[in-house]
Amino acid sequence: MVAQDKIDEVIKKTDIVDLVSQFITLEKYGSGFRGLCPFHPDHSPSFSVSPDKKIAKCMVCGEGGNPITFLRKIKNISFNEALKELADKAGITVDGLYINKKTDNFSHLYEIMETSKKFYIHNLLNTKSGLEAIEYLHKRGIDDETIKRFEIGLSLNTNNSLYQVLKEKNYNELDMMHLGLIKQNDNDFYDLFRGRIMFPIKDEFGHTIAYSARIFNTNDKNQAKYVNSPETEIFKKHLTLYNLSDAILSIRKMHRVILHEGQMDVIASVRSGNLETVCSMGTALTKEQVRIIKKYTNNVLLCYDGDKAGIDAMLKAIKLFETVDLKVKLVILPDKEDPDSYVLKYGSTKFNEFIENNQLDPLDFIFEYATRGKDFTKNNDVEDAKEKLFINLKDVKSTSSIERYIGLFAKLINVSEASLLMDFNNYYTPQYNKNNADIFEQENSFPSFLEQEYQYLSNYAWAELRLLNYAKLSKGMADVIEQKFPDNDIRPYLEPIHQELWDELNLDYFMQYDDFIEQQFLERLNERLYNCYLQNITSLNKKGDCHIPYNEADMNDCITKLKEHYLEKKAHELDAKIFDANGSEKIMYLTKKVDLLKQLEKQRCNNANFKQNRK
Ligand code: CTP
Ligand code: MN
Repeated sequence: MVAQDKIDEVIKKTDIVDLVSQFITLEKYGSGFRGLCPFHPDHSPSFSVSPDKKIAKCMVCGEGGNPITFLRKIKNISFNEALKELADKAGITVDGLYINKKTDNFSHLYEIMETSKKFYIHNLLNTKSGLEAIEYLHKRGIDDETIKRFEIGLSLNTNNSLYQVLKEKNYNELDMMHLGLIKQNDNDFYDLFRGRIMFPIKDEFGHTIAYSARIFNTNDKNQAKYVNSPETEIFKKHLTLYNLSDAILSIRKMHRVILHEGQMDVIASVRSGNLETVCSMGTALTKEQVRIIKKYTNNVLLCYDGDKAGIDAMLKAIKLFETVDLKVKLVILPDKEDPDSYVLKYGSTKFNEFIENNQLDPLDFIFEYATRGKDFTKNNDVEDAKEKLFINLKDVKSTSSIERYIGLFAKLINVSEASLLMDFNNYYTPQYNKNNADIFEQENSFPSFLEQEYQYLSNYAWAELRLLNYAKLSKGMADVIEQKFPDNDIRPYLEPIHQELWDELNLDYFMQYDDFIEQQFLERLNERLYNCYLQNITSLNKKGDCHIPYNEADMNDCITKLKEHYLEKKAHELDAKIFDANGSEKIMYLTKKVDLLKQLEKQRCNNANFKQNRK
């Protein structure tokens, strides 16, 4: 236990303005200071520091407190670690401090890693082969400052030079072997890393825990490009993010983390000024890594290699981030490029511009992923894109987003939105009719399970299809429906292809016949309408019946939904006009929009009342 008066003394002796200034820029404000809060995305200075009260706290998110609290929060360290750091600085000795057991248990391993790291750095800077390695690094755009920052080193192409160094320090041979630095052969010990550029890998707290070692100036295909340290008590790959310990402060400051695939990419990105960059070192991102990221920020910028593997990996990563509610933006680099090659080819400025200007939301990314490089005159490409899009959209919760992307895709492949939505539903629930066929037996109710199964079909598209189904019950029914629309004209409320179908039904077929006979109707349709009818209309009716059971309430509901959607669409179309127009024209469009919104509001009220009355 640490005595309270010691804690108080440390707080009292700490210059809190000095302390906070290490992390954020402060400006004088009243009797204290203020700056942008490092703990939440802050646009006006909400973080206030009071030297008198020794408090550094955010007025908005409430994070912070006394110097110890502030330090432990911002560095994500324990109370005792923060206390020790501040006490050391103030020259106060604190008894009874108990620091992280893990560090204590493994301190001998950390020490060996530290010693080996220094040896590798020494080799790089002071040997002949070091000159070659540096030349290689320079060629890859890694300057001396960057070499120093990442503590890059070199393992010599000798039998056991590292072993000699470690032996001299009397480290335990078992520990050296355990760390994967040394191996035993009969009675001899020899170095495992030889003639490779050594990238130290550190844990969250900055301890060196492993190496990633790269070959250089050899084309030997038999040698692995990278050799990494084995997993040990201190190195767990699934918990490790390269460069994290050095990125933490910038992650806080920038309110985001940039995530790449390889350490060369991180180095290139950091060199370009993005200090908040980390990578998972070539392995798929794990949920543990995602949770670690979540401790520091809620925003992730994902930029993997621009090849298929990179894009597939990003797709997987999106799902992981969504499980912990992290906001993800994605950047797809031009094919064949990774961040490192991009920086080398086009320079840091261009790279930064690219990643700032080409960020996609997850759904945009999925759309891009599904449709990229496709030739939609080819059926194979259409089907492939469709499958990719559907499989990823089916987990999306927002119906309006689904509708939007299905709409975009429908335009792209030149089919109706409703038919694509229907495909999507069939894709989503391929065998729905098998288990639930008997529900169709029930009279006078629209099969409610269908509504559930089809929940991914947007409300209005679903309503439109049902309405067409009711319309074809008889000529009388089609008339009743038509009369419920302004000017007795349903056509503007339908999708183009359904307008055509409506014309065939109402202006043609029902002019001749009063009752609907499916076969007779189908014979009149051209191929496109025929397919549309089979896909969109009959697929609602099972058990050989060409009609869905009539349900007046449901029919009225469909009409209401269609009207609502129509108004929404009109309002949306106006937005573009408002944006382009100036002066009185702009005002005119704005007035129109306000008018539309009022109508929409009224329509929605009707809709709500209608539903209420039904209950
Ligand atoms: N990796 C690895 N072992 C390999 C290949 C790759 O551990 N044999 C890891 C490395 O951490 C590497 C990351 O996977 O940084 C990404 O691999 P890759 O894209 O192939 O390498 P680059 O980062 O492009 O490395 P370089 O530019 O040096 O070729
Ligand atoms: Mn590369």
